[in-house]
Amino acid sequence: LTLVGTATILMWMNWKLALLILLFNPLVIFATVQLGKRVKHLKKLENDSTARFTQALTETLEAIQEVRAGNRQGFFLGRLGQRAREVRDFAVASQWKSDASGRASGLLFQFGIDIFRAVAMLTVLFSDLSIGQMLAVFSYLWFMISPVEQLLNLQYAYYAAGGALTRINELLARADEPQYPGGVDPFRNRDTVGIEVRDLSFGYGEDKVLEHLDLSIAPGEKVAIVGASGGGKSTLVQLLLGLYTPQSGVIRFGGSTQQEIGLTTLREHVAVVLQHPSLFNDSVRANLTMGRERSDEACWQALEIAQLDATIRALPQGLDSIVGRSGVRLSGGQRQRLAIARMILAQPRVVILDEATSALDAATEYNLHQAMAKFLSGRTTLIIAHRLSAVKQADRVLVFDGGRIAEDGDHQQLIADGGLYARLYGHLQQV
Ligand SMILES: Nc1ncnc2c1ncn2[C@@H]1O[C@H](COP(=O)(O)OP(=O)(O)OP(=O)(O)O)[C@@H](O)[C@H]1O
Ligand SMILES: [Mg+2]
Repeated sequence: LTLVGTATILMWMNWKLALLILLFNPLVIFATVQLGKRVKHLKKLENDSTARFTQALTETLEAIQEVRAGNRQGFFLGRLGQRAREVRDFAVASQWKSDASGRASGLLFQFGIDIFRAVAMLTVLFSDLSIGQMLAVFSYLWFMISPVEQLLNLQYAYYAAGGALTRINELLARADEPQYPGGVDPFRNRDTVGIEVRDLSFGYGEDKVLEHLDLSIAPGEKVAIVGASGGGKSTLVQLLLGLYTPQSGVIRFGGSTQQEIGLTTLREHVAVVLQHPSLFNDSVRANLTMGRERSDEACWQALEIAQLDATIRALPQGLDSIVGRSGVRLSGGQRQRLAIARMILAQPRVVILDEATSALDAATEYNLHQAMAKFLSGRTTLIIAHRLSAVKQADRVLVFDGGRIAEDGDHQQLIADGGLYARLYGHLQQV
């Protein structure tokens, strides 16, 4: 408004002088924009280096035991130092260069004004402008200076924000999980439902991990899936929960597809114990309930089935004990059992266990399977395991090979068939 106002008055007083100023301004602005362009990428470099440093810092701290055990502190801390120096260098460069070019723009602007003043004085000498008018023009010019300078400096703020904005936009440009309309609830009024997978193909990249996979599990049935490491079993679990979208094929729960059910309803009723369960640096209770409303009694019941009640009771704060970052204060097997208790507490209709008992000793695992049998009876269960003890809990075994189900049958049958299963588990028969 100040700019428009003063420009109008100047036009009215002496249009020739005013035009000179108004034409001169864009020239100065053009020059400063050229200056600004030279520093606009610096802020992005600074932000990027900060991101690299923070990532290296979190990674190193998270893996500190590994780093120390491998005697690699020197390397990792050295790398951190290097990243920190980069942040410093980029920040210093970005700061002083932006500042310098901001001041250079200001200087250019002042210079422009001085030229204009000279022209104005000459106009007094050679034309009809009185000294009083000239002084008035100078004063109006004075009014104009600060808004123009503010506008010029705006570009530096804009470039700084632009660097950050690029990073935010990269994040926003990532595709969201598909939102299915949902609405159908096959779990309503049913204790459990069956699972049916038809012609499922999926790959993380070019290579297919699952190829034309077919499988069906009757309601209430317990099925084990075995197969070579890296065969795609955990991938199948993620697809069942809709964490990834298959390239082709359908997955049905109780006759309805994932799309019809909607992912929210699906995940409410299908619970999974992941191969690498994550725990939060919070109390045992919070890790069990994950924010759901559950009574202490229910928590203890779940812990009892998961064979973890004695351990938690022995802790001074019981359910309120903090488990530490990623559960560091618990042993590997205790973490797994906590994840199992979490699943039990969710009271799902369908249970998926992905290597859920791999870190337990034989006796604890046996007790756990005994205690779980009652909970799992009447719930469709998918057990993914390498150990025979876990596989034997199932009514039927599916053998995963080359991205599809290669063998299907119970333990005795598969051993007799002499296929991959017999090769994996045949020698354990006598044990
Ligand atoms: N997030 C991912 N991005 C890219 N590739 C992946 C990803 N997760 C798994 N893979 C690849 O997919 C293949 C199947 O992995 P998956 O975890 O399903 O195997 P798995 O059968 O569960 O093995 P294991 O018995 O060792 O747990 C592997 O070759 C792996 O390298
Ligand atoms: Mg796996």
